[in-house]
Amino acid sequence: MTTVAVIGAGMMGSGIAQTSAQFGYDVLLTDVDLAVAEKAKDGIGKALQRLVKKDKMSAGDAEALLGRITPIAEYAPMSEAEFIIEAATEREEIKLKIIDAAGKVLAPNSIMASNTSSIPITRMGAKAVDPQRFIGMHFFNPVPVMGLIEVIPGLATSEETLKRSRTYAESLGKEVVIAGDDPGFVVNRILVPMINEAIFVLGQGMGTIEDIDKGCRIGLNHPMGPLELADFVGIDTLFEIVQVLYKTTGDSKYRPAPLLVKYVEAGWLGRKTGRGFYDYSGDTPVPTR
Ligand code: 3HC
Repeated sequence: MTTVAVIGAGMMGSGIAQTSAQFGYDVLLTDVDLAVAEKAKDGIGKALQRLVKKDKMSAGDAEALLGRITPIAEYAPMSEAEFIIEAATEREEIKLKIIDAAGKVLAPNSIMASNTSSIPITRMGAKAVDPQRFIGMHFFNPVPVMGLIEVIPGLATSEETLKRSRTYAESLGKEVVIAGDDPGFVVNRILVPMINEAIFVLGQGMGTIEDIDKGCRIGLNHPMGPLELADFVGIDTLFEIVQVLYKTTGDSKYRPAPLLVKYVEAGWLGRKTGRGFYDYSGDTPVPTR
């Protein structure tokens, strides 16, 4: 069976690992240390138990899926992988370190993909061991549920790499869009300025958190309002994406909303810290302003 290695066992990395294992891949999962990868595997186990309880998956299938995920401490076993997927924090210097280290074990015919949300693929690919075998594969959160993967070839990415990446994405039951290698690609180039604008709207006192979200949920039929979604994605991640859009294009329309900067400075990063635009300490989220 084909092996996929995932570097970064946070929300996105865990989701990519779970989905790949669900569709029959053997998965190697790693993070800064083994304990983090093991904890992520436990988290996947809990998500699967919820599916079993809801009769959406048999206990046997859940056990087999989990059995295909192996947390690892070192990069060496990744030389078995057909794909190495970098899914670390959205910071270029962190990603480049990983791309460099993983390049040392990438098998000669294997592909390295980055799940970056915004950072240009050509720029990162130039630092990869083989730019022809480097590509962007942008998954959406929650990965097991969301039906799309954006595939982003860089300037040097080969046709063969694009074709194999598309085949892998489709083998996970996802639809694929091919996006140009400009900051934010297609979806985040549209989504992130919208969320940033919602934060401007909040900062200018034009609406409450509840009303801004309600307006977009009901008025636009979005499953979540932009501020709920900001908390869900992570306010620090959003800030990183806005910064990439702003700095790479130099276009002032992408400047971060002052309140977005303040929330990052306060460490109010959304669901993962228990507080963002909503407070998550109780049973149901409560708007904070
Ligand atoms: N594995 C498998 N299935 C899972 C799962 C998991 N880990 N977690 C949830 N599910 C399933 C549930 O079983 C449920 O299935 P059902 O509909 O058949 O019963 C379904 O997913 C929905 O889950 P819930 O009932 O728990 O929750 P909701 O109905 O409230 O939906 C949501 C949650 C899917 C997150 C929905 O609110 C939504 O679509 N929100 C918008 C998400 C979005 O926009 N994501 C993209 C963010 S942007 C991004 O990721 C890009 C990045 O670069 C910033």
